[in-house]
Amino acid sequence: MLTVNANGARMPALGFGTWRLRGEECASLVKHAVASGYTSIDTAIMYDNEEDVGEGLRRAEQPRDQLFITSKVWPSEVMDGQFQRCVEGSLKRLGLDYLDLVLIHWPPQDNDDVAEWMRLLNDVADQGLARNIGVSNFTIPLIERAVAASHRPLACNQVEHHPYINQSRLRQVCDDHGIALVGYCPLFRGGDLFEQTAITSAAAAHGKSPAQIVLRWHVQSGCVAIPKTATPSRAVENIDIFDFELTGDQMDAINALTARHERICDYDFSPQWDVP
Ligand SMILES: NC(=O)c1ccc[n+]([C@@H]2O[C@H](COP(=O)([O-])OP(=O)(O)OC[C@H]3O[C@@H](n4cnc5c(N)ncnc54)[C@H](OP(=O)(O)O)[C@@H]3O)[C@@H](O)[C@H]2O)c1
Repeated sequence: MLTVNANGARMPALGFGTWRLRGEECASLVKHAVASGYTSIDTAIMYDNEEDVGEGLRRAEQPRDQLFITSKVWPSEVMDGQFQRCVEGSLKRLGLDYLDLVLIHWPPQDNDDVAEWMRLLNDVADQGLARNIGVSNFTIPLIERAVAASHRPLACNQVEHHPYINQSRLRQVCDDHGIALVGYCPLFRGGDLFEQTAITSAAAAHGKSPAQIVLRWHVQSGCVAIPKTATPSRAVENIDIFDFELTGDQMDAINALTARHERICDYDFSPQWDVP
């Protein structure tokens, strides 16, 4: 598995997303994903599936040091120094001694809290509960403040990323600080992205599916992608992207799709990630 150097953390370039997977379906898909070659699994307290992910990991019987497990703490779950307790809860539900990566799932409501959140995040790593720390849905100004307030390097900023969204300015700021950009909704949840000529023509040229072309574009761009699927055959398909390379022209054609600038997570409270 190709890895991305995220401030010293060797993060697999492709992970398995688990939002909306629960119960037996989640456990059996996680086991299947690991058996299919995934080493990185993305979950969150908010997904209410950490026990199921943990069950899948137990069934997979993979040595712990060959896995990269990420979980995330939602701001409302943190009150009065409860951050460490939240992470301990994640570990208990997952059946693990440590997380490879713990993220703040969403920026605090009050931006002034960033320094305090960074202190809490650093503390759980200092306690040995997580090997690496990072953030999710942080904008450019918030990344700058988080970096300034953190004594440990941030491994990643997990944000929406796919060919319809331009994250180049945020990506540059992350690059400047050695932070990996981890893309969620990497497949734009399917939709008409898979019908774009830039994608279908590359798929035909390489004998790959549209989803494989999109995921290859992510990793070839130097980013991490964490596609989710509830379909076992798609889990295998999505990781089978390391035996071909998109040409420069194919990368350019997919990059040009950002002109559409369409987001999936576009709620009132969604961050304007790319605004400096
Ligand atoms: N940090 C955050 O705030 C945040 C926000 C959103 C998501 N995430 C993380 O990112 C992960 C991925 O994002 P996402 O689940 O929103 O979107 P996604 O991975 O872009 O899309 C998932 C959708 O694509 C379909 N799909 C997967 N592989 C396919 C293939 N090979 N061919 C055709 N369709 C395919 C899936 O269908 P089936 O399942 O029916 O196969 C599902 O409907 C989440 O699971 C979660 O772990 C994080």
